[in-house]
Amino acid sequence: MKKLFAINGSPRRNGNTAQLLQAAMRGAEAAGAETELIHLYPLHFKGCISCFACKLKDREHGICAIKDELSPILTQLKEADAIIFGSPIYFMNLSACMVAFLERFLFSNYLYTVENSSVFPKTMPSAFFYTMNATEEQARQFHLEDKLAMYDMGSENILKVKPCRLMAYNTVQFKDYSKYEASMFSEADKKAYREANWPQLCEKAHTIGKSLIESAVDL
Ligand SMILES: Cc1cc2nc3c(=O)[nH]c(=O)nc-3n(C[C@H](O)[C@H](O)[C@H](O)COP(=O)(O)O)c2cc1C
Repeated sequence: MKKLFAINGSPRRNGNTAQLLQAAMRGAEAAGAETELIHLYPLHFKGCISCFACKLKDREHGICAIKDELSPILTQLKEADAIIFGSPIYFMNLSACMVAFLERFLFSNYLYTVENSSVFPKTMPSAFFYTMNATEEQARQFHLEDKLAMYDMGSENILKVKPCRLMAYNTVQFKDYSKYEASMFSEADKKAYREANWPQLCEKAHTIGKSLIESAVDL
């Protein structure tokens, strides 16, 4: 049976990012796969420490030398058939936890060689899901696209397929905006936007989950 891993780079277990990942998991399950949702924030781990053990000539490649709570996940991902990376946008970047995860996952499977720089054992379809307060227009003004393109490139280089992407703009952050200092947002506008757009986003996430599994290569 094929397996899809969904990686939640939000500290909120049931937030916007997790909800879209769960929709994608249902899509993958509809295509006959099993799925697993991994929440990064409860795990004790750091980003790459630049030890370069993964690139030593006399060592097995594709293994991160740091031993911590991320280690078993990195091993499990080699058995995956598809993976979705989900992250909220923090300071117009991925969350720190997702960046740390990607450093460990992608860099440990990368060699500084002229050819065949990826040592990841298979071609693996993937997707990035991003959720953010910004509207599409604001994301464009802040050149978010350029930043995210770097993660697409890094992931395509290692997993050997261009990842697909789902963007959720103008998300609802609080249940009750009146409890917070948040006058820059209109709760009514946010909720109306969500009502109009969220079902289609979940539908898209579902389709992505299903199609990642359908395109996963049988080894
Ligand atoms: C520390 C922090 C920084 C944030 N920075 C941004 C930002 O730069 N741009 C943006 O559009 N939203 C920003 N947000 C809002 C979140 O990206 C947005 O609410 C997201 O949908 C939260 O996802 P979640 O519900 O899965 O946690 C930030 C939120 C936090 C907590």
